[in-house]
Order: sequence, then C-alpha cells, then structure tokens
Amino acid sequence: MCGIVGAVARNNVVPILLEGLRRLEYRGYDSAGIALVSGGLRRLRTTGRVAELGKLVDEQAFQGETGIAHTRWATHGAPSERNAHPHFSAGATKVAVVHNGIIENHEVLRQRLQVAGFEFLSDTDTEVIAHLITLNLRKTPDLFEAVLCSVAELQGAYAIAVMEEARPERIVVARNGAPLLLGLGEHGNYAASDASALLPVTRYMIYLEEGDVAELRCDGYRIVNCLDSSSTREVMRAVHESELTDAAVELGPYAHFMQKEIFEQPGVIANTLEMVLNAHSISPQLFGSDAENIFKHTDSILILACGTSYHAGLVARYWLESMAGLACNVEIASEYRYRDPVASPHALVVAISQSGETADTLAALGYAKSLGHRHSLAICNVPESALVRQTDLRFLTRAGPEIGVASTKAFTTQLAALMLLTMTLAKLRGKLSSEHERGMITALRHLPVALQRVLQVEPQIKVWAERFAQKRHALFLGRGMHYPIAMEGALKLKEISYIHAEAYAAGELKHGPLALVDEDMPVVAIAPNNALLEKLKSNLQEVRARGGELYVFVDADSPIQQSEGIHVISLPEHAGLLSPILHTIPLQLLAYHVALQKNTDVDKPRNLAKSVTVE
Ligand code: F6R
Repeated sequence: MCGIVGAVARNNVVPILLEGLRRLEYRGYDSAGIALVSGGLRRLRTTGRVAELGKLVDEQAFQGETGIAHTRWATHGAPSERNAHPHFSAGATKVAVVHNGIIENHEVLRQRLQVAGFEFLSDTDTEVIAHLITLNLRKTPDLFEAVLCSVAELQGAYAIAVMEEARPERIVVARNGAPLLLGLGEHGNYAASDASALLPVTRYMIYLEEGDVAELRCDGYRIVNCLDSSSTREVMRAVHESELTDAAVELGPYAHFMQKEIFEQPGVIANTLEMVLNAHSISPQLFGSDAENIFKHTDSILILACGTSYHAGLVARYWLESMAGLACNVEIASEYRYRDPVASPHALVVAISQSGETADTLAALGYAKSLGHRHSLAICNVPESALVRQTDLRFLTRAGPEIGVASTKAFTTQLAALMLLTMTLAKLRGKLSSEHERGMITALRHLPVALQRVLQVEPQIKVWAERFAQKRHALFLGRGMHYPIAMEGALKLKEISYIHAEAYAAGELKHGPLALVDEDMPVVAIAPNNALLEKLKSNLQEVRARGGELYVFVDADSPIQQSEGIHVISLPEHAGLLSPILHTIPLQLLAYHVALQKNTDVDKPRNLAKSVTVE
C-alpha cells in the first residue's frame, strides 16, 4: 500500500528519497511523487514507476535538503497525476502533504473547507489534510502546532508527512493506524513507512506509536503523543538498531523476489524453528512469559486473518482439533469485524499476519477484545508492527522481509509456528505423549531438508506451466488439511498470472463445480498419501470421466500413476501432519512459472498492494 519517505539532511536528499521509494515499491502503487523546496515549494508526479520519477528528477535537476516522497495506491480517486501525492495547499505559506491510509470524515471536512474558500484540485481524501493544515496555520504560525490541531479533526487511519515553503528546514509526521517510523542518521533525519527504505542512510529507527506526531530537523527531533486529546505530551521513544540486512531486501542472483522467497523457505523455516530444533521438548515460553498460564485456561481458539494468512489459519484448525482436541473457529477478519459473534472468555484469539499492519486484522482483533475475549496471540513476521504491540502473547516468524506481493515464505513459516502452537496446547492438555512429541520434533527438524528436496521438482513444474499459460480458468482440489492448500494454490495462481482459479474441497465437486469441467479446464489436485487418498481418487475419476485434464501432486509411492489425461508430479516423501507445508511449494512454483510464461509483473501484480493498511 502507499509508501512514504521523508528526509531532512545537510546534503541533497533527492537520491535518498528516490532510493527509499524504490525500496517501498513492493508495497504496490500506481503513481509516485516528490516535493521539496528549491526556489519555492515544487513537486514532480507521475503515473509511471519510481524509475520514471527518477528521470523527471534528472531532467529538471531537482535538488533540495528537505523533501517528502510518496508511492500511491489509489483509494479515493483514480490513479492519475492530479491525484498523485504530494498534495499542496497555499495560504500564508505553501504546504505539501503525503499520506497513507483513509480519512473517513473527508467529505464533511471537504465541505467545510470549501465553504472556507479552499479550492480542491484532486479527488483524494489527502487534499483535505493539506487544506486543513493551511486553515489551522491561520491560527498558529507553527507547522507542528497546525498539524497537531489538524490530526485532532481527522477520523480514520493515516500516516502523513508534511513540509512547508516558509520553513523548509523541517518536516512534520504523524501516525495513527498506518505504519511510520523515524530514521536517525549521521547527516540528517528521516521518516518512512518501513525500515527497508532507510537502510542506505541509517540503521537507527524509532517506531512511532498510535497518536504520535513528530517534528524532524537535521539536528534533532521531538515527538508528542496526542492519542488522549485532553493531554498532549512530549514522549520518549526507544531507538532500535535494525537487524535488517541489505541482502535481505536485495534480489541477489534471482530474477524476482517471489522466486527468491520461494527458494529461501528451507532456511527461513529453520530460522523460525530454531528454538525447538535443538530441544527435546516444547515449551509454552516460545509464545511469551505468560503463555503457560493463559494456555492452561484456554478452552477454544478463534483465528483472525486475511488472505494467505487466513489459509494458514484454516490448516491450523485441522491440527488444533485433531492433535489438541480444541474447538477452533477461523474467521476472515473483514467479515468478523462486522458480525455479532458470541465471545467466549476462555477462547484464545490468534491473529495471523505477515505484515502486522493489515487494517482488517487489527480491527478484528480490537473488536474481539471489545466483545470480551481476554487473551490474544499474534503470529507475525514484523517484530515492530502494530499487531505485535496489541496482543498479550506473540510468536515471530523469522521469514525476513517478504518483498514479493504474493506471500510465500511468510505462509510456510506461519504454518510452522501454528504447528508449534498446536503441539504446545496439545501437551498442556495431556494430548501429546512424550513419544509423539519427540517424533514431531524430529519431523520438524527434518523439514528444511524435505523442503529443499521438494524445490527440485521445479523443472517438471516449468513443463506444466507452459500448458497452463494458455488457459483462462483452473480448478484446485484438496481434502482435509490440504483443502486450504488448494485454496492457497488457487490464490497464488490468480494473483500473479491473472488466470481465474477456484479451489474446492474435492468432495464438493459433484455438488456443482463439476458442471464446469471440460477439456479446457485444468484441474489441479493435491493428493498426499493420507487417509483421504482413496476418497480423493474417486473425486478425480469424476473429473476424468468428464474429459477434465488432471494435474496431480502426489507423494512418493503413491498409487496414482501418470496416464492419459492424468499428469503427475511426485514429491520425494510424505510428511504426515506437516504435509501441507511441503505441498505448498509446488503450487507456489506453478503460479510463478505460469506468470513468467504470461510475462506479468510477478512481484507487483496489478491492482494489489503488499501491506493492506486500509479497510
Ligand atoms: C496473498 C497475500 C495476501 C495477504 C493478506 C494479509 O499472496 O499476500 O492475501 O496474505 O493481505 O496480509 P498480512 O498477512 O500481512 O496480514
């Protein structure tokens, strides 16, 4: 979603701003812009990529020591140059604003500002912020004070960065419901949507909290918090040294981040499981110091998540029910937050999110708490995210930065974390014998090697991908805990190759979707060697009898063999309960190679954003 970079330094900040935007490109955007003071407040905007903004900057010899820059993912108003940020407003001084989020009361504010004489040049909610600040600058000459007054009137989620023509030696930023951090450097100070944008200039970061408004100057900064509007006060925030390495956000030898991230899975799964790989038993401490106490009183699980993270939750339901004997509900966060669910005080709420900034997941968690759910756990990939700060317990997946918009390594590390959670709860409930526990730990220890072997099916996948690239639709089938894996495979294919793909629980086929099956409809089936294989085989017969072409992922020694209309790729081994993790890999590779065939923008698929910080 939108990316913000701001800089105040002793030297020309334009290269820093452009490099920051380039590093935020993965979030998804449809226009980009930059503003700075150089003989007056000036801006450049484009509906092209950041590289095109760079060309404009070069042509116009754009230079300055203070600036703000932005990549926009359209919400209010089409992706066009006039809607691209920064937005300006002119009064006694001219201000420029960039914004990530949605201002929910923008219509009311717009009407008020129009009555006050402001002319709107865009369709965005952001322009309202710019004019509101100008209006408040009539009451106070100080930009910081004017921003404080303005944010008090904003409803919704936002991160903003503001600068003014009259005093270009500072920028003012504010955060409420959308990510924003400060970077403290040797030659200046910076702000950005995430740490990766600032790594070339600093590793020292301050993660702003909800309601923080900060002023950045070249030689310092100050932060006030205005969450409680009756007592705005200056606050100290801890400075963190980022552990991100540049290598983690660079492509290295790979063609795309998605490819890199698929191939990183053996390593990041090993990192995520590090604490248990050398242990003989599993401990609730993995989830926080209070975990044992909370888990002992847990009588059911409520999982909240969106998209791929939701699919991880669906797999976990099978594990939690069968291994830990716990009732488990898995809810799409954007639906849960608007229902009237009945809370159960002893249910543990588990929020799953790669970014930890997904607006719907955060809101659903807040809603669950307001309904009376007492305890919550975050499974998240970003240690400093909002989600991690809002739960009693947390488990950090250690996937490293995920740049490709289509989630891959975050998903499999979430599954690894959810298996640890299941084992921990099962053990506390007396449902995991020491022998079973040791067996599971051995299986987890073997997982990185097993994943490495599965990755070797890539050449066979490439052959399938050539055929899929000609198709317009595909069905994905799975049963039991592999049904959510079929859902994940279909989601991957549609997001990056734009082929319409649907997943069904294979037993549902004859209740409707079978009508779609003909020779033009490839049907992908996930068919591991488990208790449901015989049932699945019957479902596949139903497809074959209607002329449907089958593409089946099996395990070694499977009874399903390659034959007329049945294409088979065999995974090297069967992983028992961990099988969903292994069976995810070929589906990710299939989506990736079909997208390559179709020449789509693999890492930045159209219309999508990486971190969905608006509703
Ligand atoms: C799909 C994908 C999305 C995310 C969803 C939730 O490949 O990446 O469906 O899974 O937007 O994002 P997080 O996990 O950051 O909450």
